[in-house]
Amino acid sequence: MFTLAQETRDDGWEVEALYDTCFAPGRQALSSYRLREGVAPIAALCVVARDESGHMGGAIRYWPVCVGGSRALLLGPVAVHPTAQGEGLGGALIRDTLARAEAMGEARVMLVGDAPYYARFGFALLAGVEMPPPTNPERVLGVALRPGAWDGVTGVVEAARNG
Ligand SMILES: CC(C)(COP(=O)(O)OP(=O)(O)OC[C@H]1O[C@@H](n2cnc3c(N)ncnc32)[C@H](O)[C@@H]1OP(=O)(O)O)[C@@H](O)C(=O)NCCC(=O)NCCS
Repeated sequence: MFTLAQETRDDGWEVEALYDTCFAPGRQALSSYRLREGVAPIAALCVVARDESGHMGGAIRYWPVCVGGSRALLLGPVAVHPTAQGEGLGGALIRDTLARAEAMGEARVMLVGDAPYYARFGFALLAGVEMPPPTNPERVLGVALRPGAWDGVTGVVEAARNG
């Protein structure tokens, strides 16, 4: 049984270690990391999952970005420890934080990921939204937290100037 809680300053190194375990080496070379450099994550949407023993089973973070002049949230990284995968924890982290983002008044969320996984949370291909290269355009996905929130929002994804 996992409990979700907002990431604290003390959690940071464990979240990084979890990401190192779950992603291929060199993850920081991905274009999404360029959009995070020098920008603070959205603390209220950075969530960790711990079991009864306190072991971290999963974590999710979000950053603000700018798409053609409109604010959006960049979901990720999200990761679940290999020993806890396939039990719904990734889904719980994503659903919980999307609900939080909606309650905060955020309009739109995007990510770079596998459509077959993220479609279940409402994510669909974002045509006309360009991540910095090299990014496969078929992995650029988005979900609207308000009806039509992605309508007409196109362009290059840029780092937000502030949180
Ligand atoms: C992707 C990840 C966060 C999913 O977390 P999880 O707790 O294992 O996922 P859930 O238990 O909520 O969902 C499991 C389901 O998702 C499917 N799934 C998981 N990763 C998938 C992927 N990349 N593509 C398609 N389906 C995927 C599983 O097959 C399973 O399907 P089922 O419900 O039909 O059995 C986790 O597997 C992980 O950390 N992977 C390594 C890091 C990573 O790739 N992060 C995402 C980067 S965008």
